[in-house]
Amino acid sequence: MISISSQSSSEPHSRRPKIPPGDVLPRKSSFNSLNSLLAHSYFTQSRVWLLLSIFSFQIILLIGLRSILLSFNYRRHHFPSPYTAHHRVSIPTNTIIDISHPRITTDHDDECRSGRIFVYDLPSRFNTELIRNCDELNPWSTRCDALANDGFGQKATEIFALVPKNLAPAWYWTDQFVSEIIFHNRILKHKCRTTEPNNATAFYIPFYAGLAVGKFLWYNYTAKDRDRHCEMLLTWVRDQPYYKKSNGWDHFITMGRISWDFRRSKDEDWGSSCIYMPGMRNITRLLIERNPWDYFDVGVPYPTGFHPRSDADILQWQEFVRMQNRTKLFCFAGAKRGAMKNDFRGLLLSHCENESDTCRVVDCSGSQCSNGTSVILETFLDSNFCLQPRGDSFTRKSIFDCMIAGSIPVLFWKRTAYYQYEWFLPGEPESYSVFIHRNDVKNGTSIRKVLENYSKEEVRKMREKVIDYIPRFVYARGYEGLESIKDAFDIAIDGVLKRFKEQEDWGYKW
Ligand SMILES: *[C@@H]1O[C@H](CO)[C@@H](O)[C@H](O)[C@H]1NC(C)=O
Ligand SMILES: *[C@@H]1O[C@H](CO)[C@@H](O)[C@H](O)[C@H]1NC(C)=O
Ligand SMILES: *[C@@H]1O[C@H](CO)[C@@H](O)[C@H](O)[C@H]1NC(C)=O
Ligand SMILES: *[C@@H]1O[C@H](CO)[C@@H](O)[C@H](O)[C@H]1NC(C)=O
Ligand SMILES: *[C@@H]1O[C@H](CO)[C@@H](O)[C@H](O)[C@H]1NC(C)=O
Ligand SMILES: *[C@@H]1O[C@H](CO)[C@@H](O)[C@H](O)[C@H]1NC(C)=O
Ligand SMILES: *[C@@H]1O[C@H](CO)[C@@H](O)[C@H](O)[C@H]1NC(C)=O
Ligand SMILES: *[C@@H]1O[C@H](CO)[C@@H](O)[C@H](O)[C@H]1NC(C)=O
Repeated sequence: MISISSQSSSEPHSRRPKIPPGDVLPRKSSFNSLNSLLAHSYFTQSRVWLLLSIFSFQIILLIGLRSILLSFNYRRHHFPSPYTAHHRVSIPTNTIIDISHPRITTDHDDECRSGRIFVYDLPSRFNTELIRNCDELNPWSTRCDALANDGFGQKATEIFALVPKNLAPAWYWTDQFVSEIIFHNRILKHKCRTTEPNNATAFYIPFYAGLAVGKFLWYNYTAKDRDRHCEMLLTWVRDQPYYKKSNGWDHFITMGRISWDFRRSKDEDWGSSCIYMPGMRNITRLLIERNPWDYFDVGVPYPTGFHPRSDADILQWQEFVRMQNRTKLFCFAGAKRGAMKNDFRGLLLSHCENESDTCRVVDCSGSQCSNGTSVILETFLDSNFCLQPRGDSFTRKSIFDCMIAGSIPVLFWKRTAYYQYEWFLPGEPESYSVFIHRNDVKNGTSIRKVLENYSKEEVRKMREKVIDYIPRFVYARGYEGLESIKDAFDIAIDGVLKRFKEQEDWGYKW
């Protein structure tokens, strides 16, 4: 898993999990979880499938509607430079057409019409105490630096020369596993937060599930060690009257690691079994990598290094990446896993090295890509496309590093992005990315030839799409978010509220 900021995510790769090595294993366990989901059902299977098909129909409708709206594409024509930010911000919020994602609102819209959020005041051992004990969060080194600055990490001074001067302070070496902290800080200041549980439609559980389990994933800690925090948390939560009232259906949580870290089914396997514990069943979970077959798992973007402080920061950054003169057709930043036979990343590395006129390699073996290097951002800013194989798990923080730099991702597994971040990325994969099946690459398809086949205009269009969507996958710096642009946090919360409202309106629970 490469990252601009892999300091504390630098869990030794040799010890990386027995996360499913290919498509096969995870799919198996996902079907298991779907089965167990059905087994829990009050209703018959047919009822479930009926609901699922209604649900997919709904999604198709939504996608259709959205593409019509998107085709207007007002953004580029009306707001071409950072200066226009000032015009925009002064427009009353209720008449703004959200530039990051066109959306029609009316004067009558109540900002919190989808409902209000109650945030549990958990005992500190479930969150803030973990940060206070940052020295003990992983077995090798302290994570205190990585968790500093409200979880955003150390200032990324090394890249200051690369980015516009006034945007440099918005860059940090952010660890990829800190979404729990970011979400907690932001939700406490959310405009739709209520302190009156009777008025709430959603209940947030600010438990740092990933930080709590981090250290116990390694060495010979026992299954019991890995499950301890989560078990205590669920004991606490299941005692709460509002949890009992809904069976958890209106509760949600952020879990700052990938879903597989919480899905251990046998004691000797990798991870905690947090998601499989009974009280978790109906709680919506925001994860950097979801199990696509579990309705309650929602994929949210990996935290990256750019944390804009204002609408103007975003607009200036978008303009900056749009103006890059990209000298390389494509690039690959990653390391091969020497120990693995037929390692796909090694193959991509070889592809790139053999096409050095058009491809730029950043070999991340050793410590090249650990914190303190600007070479990855520089490479993405200089390339039209970036190769994004799966990492140690299906997803990879690097996809977001790449897109923030306005580079177009080339994907080899559908689960790397398309089945993950539906709320955050365009519905039409071909509008912002290139998909080449991994078997075609193994069979000798030339990546360069596939990419060269796109005309300049097609590349420009895809890049515009990526740039348009940047706001939706960055996490803003301030506790209160940006002025009028919605960032990844805002999109996630809107999505959760909408989902809970629909659950109520339609009465679909199983
Ligand atoms: C809860 O809702 C009631 C009725 O809508 C309202 O009068 C009251 O002020 C609300 N309380 C809080 C704390 O928001
Ligand atoms: C594994 O457990 C044994 C017995 O509890 C302990 O002595 C040993 O230090 C542990 N090893 C590691 C690597 O933690
Ligand atoms: C989950 O929700 C269903 C339907 O409301 C309910 O029957 C079930 O008991 C809930 N599970 C848990 C663990 O609360
Ligand atoms: C890109 O190239 C043009 C023309 O060569 C030059 O004027 C411009 O400054 C370059 N932009 C950047 C960001 O280097
Ligand atoms: C790259 O070139 C080397 C040497 O010519 C060759 O052995 C290797 O198969 C090439 N790799 C790819 C992916 O084409
Ligand atoms: C990078 O990580 C090392 C330890 O892994 C730390 O000493 C150093 O301060 C970090 N640099 C930055 C810029 O965060
Ligand atoms: C590519 O490889 C797959 C199996 O990996 C095979 O099924 C397919 O026929 C091959 N295609 C070509 C064009 O060689
Ligand atoms: C290039 O594009 C043409 C038409 O768009 C298509 O038929 C052809 O297969 C493409 N070639 C490659 C290498 O993708």
